[in-house]
Amino acid sequence: MTPVFCRAFHQLNLTDGWLSPYYRVSTNVPRDKKLKKFLQPFMENDLPVIVQLMGTDPSLLTKVAEQMVFLGAKGINLNFACPSRQVLKSGAGGALLKDIPLMVKIVKSIKNALPKSSISAKIRCGFEEWSESKKIIPALVESSALDFIGVHFRTVKENYSTVPLGVERLRSIVALADEVPIIGSGDIFSTEDANKLLELGCSGAMVARGILRDPFLIHNLQHTVKNKLSPEDGRKYFFSILQKTAKSDKKLYSRAKFLEYAAMMWGAKSKKFSKLKVLNEKDLLDWQ
Ligand SMILES: Cc1cc2nc3c(=O)[nH]c(=O)nc-3n(C[C@H](O)[C@H](O)[C@H](O)COP(=O)(O)O)c2cc1C
Repeated sequence: MTPVFCRAFHQLNLTDGWLSPYYRVSTNVPRDKKLKKFLQPFMENDLPVIVQLMGTDPSLLTKVAEQMVFLGAKGINLNFACPSRQVLKSGAGGALLKDIPLMVKIVKSIKNALPKSSISAKIRCGFEEWSESKKIIPALVESSALDFIGVHFRTVKENYSTVPLGVERLRSIVALADEVPIIGSGDIFSTEDANKLLELGCSGAMVARGILRDPFLIHNLQHTVKNKLSPEDGRKYFFSILQKTAKSDKKLYSRAKFLEYAAMMWGAKSKKFSKLKVLNEKDLLDWQ
């Protein structure tokens, strides 16, 4: 979700709100200038923005949450999900699933400070085993601090591996969550995938890789669209809007980032990507 990505999304009305990627909070409360820089791309179109924070220190996270809300965020989401090795080493992200009291302390502290804002969490369904969700979900629910919980059905250990029928885990997670809405995450690439989550009892679907493979996916999930673009036409069209946006504001352009998008859209092993990755900076921006 770079500034160029957000702007292209806004131009095509592809979302009606944002849940930002995580903002890492580690040692101090950053200056407003830094926080504004993070928020700005999401706020360009006046859409509601929920900022995701990641960290381990309840009072520091609370201070940053207050500041983000002061600067315009409509809500705060806590990342208890990230499986990156570096993040886990620092005890943050998915590592917090192993410290339920600390997770609860963090969400309660933020809710106390911001009683009127939307407060939520993003988790994986366990660290080692998905049965850990039997303790994690009730503890989060009992905190009475959360408006919803986003749940990626894989455990931290499973990272992004294939988990046959893993999505079915969300059925028992929804039951454990009682009144707290569960927004399901993981492997949503089509309307059928999203509908499956609703059938399992989820209140919504959270898509990540799917919007790069089909940038119109969220839009198509939300609207009955008569003349849908095929995913391939959607990718080409979205890429052309990224190019147009970057041409109109050159500081938004990064060849490396565009190649990263192309690799996610068409696949790093695709013929298309092998043609794109040899293009120089200018040719990639002009490629049709
Ligand atoms: C490149 C990338 C970056 C991600 N960054 C975040 C993040 O900042 N915060 C978060 O909660 N999840 C993040 N995720 C995880 C997704 O939100 C999601 O739970 C996971 O990818 C499974 O869903 P998917 O199959 O729709 O991708 C990221 C995923 C990818 C692929």
